[in-house]
Amino acid sequence: MPEMDPAKRMFHIRDDFAKRSSSYEADIVNIVPNYLYMLEAAVGSIPFDVSAAIKTVDLGTGTGSLAIRVKDRFPNCHLLCVDMTEGMLNMARERFSGLDGIEFLQKDFYELALPPERDLVVSSLALRHLITDDDKRTFYRKICECLRPEGVFVNADAVLSADDDIEALYERKWRKFMLDNLNEKEVDDAFERYRREDSLPYLHDELKWLSEAGFSKVDVIWKDHMGAVRWARK
Ligand SMILES: C[S@@+](CC[C@H](N)C(=O)[O-])C[C@H]1O[C@@H](n2cnc3c(N)ncnc32)[C@H](O)[C@@H]1O
Repeated sequence: MPEMDPAKRMFHIRDDFAKRSSSYEADIVNIVPNYLYMLEAAVGSIPFDVSAAIKTVDLGTGTGSLAIRVKDRFPNCHLLCVDMTEGMLNMARERFSGLDGIEFLQKDFYELALPPERDLVVSSLALRHLITDDDKRTFYRKICECLRPEGVFVNADAVLSADDDIEALYERKWRKFMLDNLNEKEVDDAFERYRREDSLPYLHDELKWLSEAGFSKVDVIWKDHMGAVRWARK
């Protein structure tokens, strides 16, 4: 597929999520294998006392699926929820209504100034929308800079394999999972969105970029085929 102009691509991503925001929550469990396990693994890996008032940022909050799990486990945390799509963020606003310590920021990652001295940055299924490898590396440096010493970054998202056979296996598994839940047209649509809007990194590149960004410890704490929770401590 020919490369799309970055501004056009961002427009597509925002437009697509705006249209899908009300059905997103019901749909995503049929599109992403083990989505809920992946979120549980991400939240379970956060190494702070559950009563601590940790300062947290969730990047690409969407309807708030990861953020609500962070808030459930760390009720005293302060949570900044960032997303560029108003409809998605509105769903999260509704979900969090009545809870203290939540802020919402409608902002594109490319224009985002992260607040300093955070304890934790989390993200799920969102940083794939950073277009180039360099965009990801730059953003990981920004994330590392905003964390206090010992702060943690947890990113739950899919990765590519460097091996063609393994990559083909990932795609077969993913297609089969979706076909168990969706019809052919819906599966084709999901693949088309994936090819148009997502840029997955190779896992080994990603781990290297995190180290280069300034994280002292980097690991993968959960993985199931293409789904992987990356974990990094400053
Ligand atoms: C697939 S959803 C993931 C939502 C949620 N984290 C989850 O796990 O269900 C991706 C979200 O990232 C947001 N997003 C994508 N690119 C973005 C960007 N450049 N800046 C800010 N938000 C972005 C979209 O608006 C969307 O809500």
